[in-house]
Amino acid sequence: MFTIGILASGKGSNLQAIVKHVQNGFINAKIGVVISDNPDAGALEIARSAGIPAVYIEPGKYRTFLENHQEKKYVECLKQHGVELVCLAGFMRVIKKNFFREYQNRIINIHPSLLPSFRGLEAWKQALDYGVRFTGCTVHFVEEDIDTGPIILQAVVAVFDDDTPETLHQRIQEKEHVIYPLAIKIISENRLIRIEGRRVIIDEM
Ligand code: GAR
Repeated sequence: MFTIGILASGKGSNLQAIVKHVQNGFINAKIGVVISDNPDAGALEIARSAGIPAVYIEPGKYRTFLENHQEKKYVECLKQHGVELVCLAGFMRVIKKNFFREYQNRIINIHPSLLPSFRGLEAWKQALDYGVRFTGCTVHFVEEDIDTGPIILQAVVAVFDDDTPETLHQRIQEKEHVIYPLAIKIISENRLIRIEGRRVIIDEM
């Protein structure tokens, strides 16, 4: 069966949504392993409760990326569990060459804005501060540059005058929990036909 692996640093609501859609059969794939760089991540707890192997792997001494020899351990763990597609779900570190060598075009991410607007951290807050009327979320392939890879799916969220960063992020997350499982379903069913330049062509079926 098509096997996905999930990397998560935080509370794990996207992981929860993916688990739900695997359990109810919407996604025809197996979650081989969940790995975190944070031993206290809610995501690890969610994985354990769902009977999915949950592994903490030390990130090393840097704050924003994985130290090389630690990154190798992430890749080894994913391979050991037969992972074909790596899904970053709130994984807050940049990944580098070891990963790209092993998982070319096989790493996807969910980002809380309509890329290419508001790359980087707290994208919902960036959108609110900028004053846009619409923002949203994006599922995209991961490239070495941050938040730049070809876009698979996006969903739009309106910004209200009385929004706070928290209320806006909450509504963005509701959409994340729809489009991330859908993107994984599309890839696991081989409906993603090709990448033409930056454009991702999906078979409608
Ligand atoms: C999500 O909103 C995701 O889009 C964001 O972190 C949150 C994780 O939530 N990711 C990024 O900002 C990546 N640059 P979760 O732990 O509840 O899934």
